[in-house]
Amino acid sequence: MPRCTPITHGSAQTVSRTRTYDAIVLGAGAAGLFCAGRAAQAGLSVLVLDHARAPAEKVRISGGGRCNFTNLETVPERFISANPHFAKSALARYTPSDFLALMAAHGLTWHEKTLGQLFCDQRSGAIIAMLLAELEKGGGALRLQTPIRDIAHADARFRVETDAETFETGQLVVATGGLSIPKMGASGFAYELAERFGHALVTPRPALVPFTVEGRLKEEFAALAGVAAPVRAQAQGPAFTEAMLFTHRGLSGPAMLQVSSYWREGERVAIDFFAGEDGAQALKALKEEFPMRSLAGALETRLPRRLVDYLAGRGLVQSGGRLAETSHGELERVAASLSAFAVTPSGTEGWRTAEVTAGGIGTDGLSSKTMESRHVPGLHFIGECVDVTGWLGGYNFQWAWASAAACAAAL
Ligand code: FDA
Repeated sequence: MPRCTPITHGSAQTVSRTRTYDAIVLGAGAAGLFCAGRAAQAGLSVLVLDHARAPAEKVRISGGGRCNFTNLETVPERFISANPHFAKSALARYTPSDFLALMAAHGLTWHEKTLGQLFCDQRSGAIIAMLLAELEKGGGALRLQTPIRDIAHADARFRVETDAETFETGQLVVATGGLSIPKMGASGFAYELAERFGHALVTPRPALVPFTVEGRLKEEFAALAGVAAPVRAQAQGPAFTEAMLFTHRGLSGPAMLQVSSYWREGERVAIDFFAGEDGAQALKALKEEFPMRSLAGALETRLPRRLVDYLAGRGLVQSGGRLAETSHGELERVAASLSAFAVTPSGTEGWRTAEVTAGGIGTDGLSSKTMESRHVPGLHFIGECVDVTGWLGGYNFQWAWASAAACAAAL
């Protein structure tokens, strides 16, 4: 875990300049900017601090530059947390429709790609501009390139020390995100601060992340790099029917990213190459349609040829003989092995490529209504640093907006 700035309790050192705000938000990402804008518009004096050069960099790169900013199918069951009930209140009080109304008010439009995933027509920079405009509308202040040196807490006040100045507030909102993509400024700041204030962590782990494999499998998958196929995949947790992609290191694509959030080291990932369909029925239908082809030849109408060749090479699919001469019993045996293919990943690509951090600040120590610490009044945690992780497809931004809105309403 990266080193964090020191945090002290008790009285802070006297410094020459101290500015006071009703609320200080640490982190100018999706959650921090959104929370600050709403609090500022409610009449609070608000300061946002961030160590990065630009705000909301993860919004900028998200969704291939178009930001998959929410999901129409948002339900609490699509969020992973040690307490599956925690996210319910915030998600119910700030919904995808609420965010769409805000976008419409800013003249932004969107389109649904698949599975309820909404993307911004004007690209992700327009969403950042909207978040900044909302902050400005309320008169909120933003300071970038401002590393936090120290946070002291005494007499229900927080003193936030930076190189140049010290700021003071009664309401401190921590929105510094998780550990994914350290190259983009991700830090363990929120976790260390939470622990020092008596909060327990659910061990943070990379999620929505490609799997790696080792040995012979790595060579085989590397040879298939770039091949994608629809599958139904499952580790612990729900099954996902989406595309899987072979890579030089292992397996990726939406199906594998989704599964990675539930997967734990040493576990197998089950892969169904019939993507949830009845495999025996599918092969019998192929036999009727293509009686003169081999099974492998007919399967190429459903799966990429290189993948079929690989499966044939592993002895799972016959490449010789006509389907007309293949018995139903044999087709059932093939269907059973192709729908129960299993891979045991050696690991994941880790923080370098993980889209999000699963785990984080334990929800037991937070109010689900306000995101406020149960240990330290006035201290709040929102967004990705909290132990709430959404599925792939806009759910994580919806959590950022919803947790931020819940917090802002309570400041
Ligand atoms: P976020 O990480 O956005 O912001 C944290 C802020 O805190 C940053 O500005 C950072 O610089 C600052 N900070 C960190 N440490 C600090 C410190 N010590 N001092 C001061 N400031 C500090 N989700 C989704 O729903 N749809 C999508 O399309 C995508 N796409 C996507 C692509 C990629 C490549 C990634 C990496 C992630 C996504 N996500 C996503 C996930 C989404 O980006 C993520 O869940 C949210 O950005 C989390 O918002 P937060 O505001 O909590 O943290």
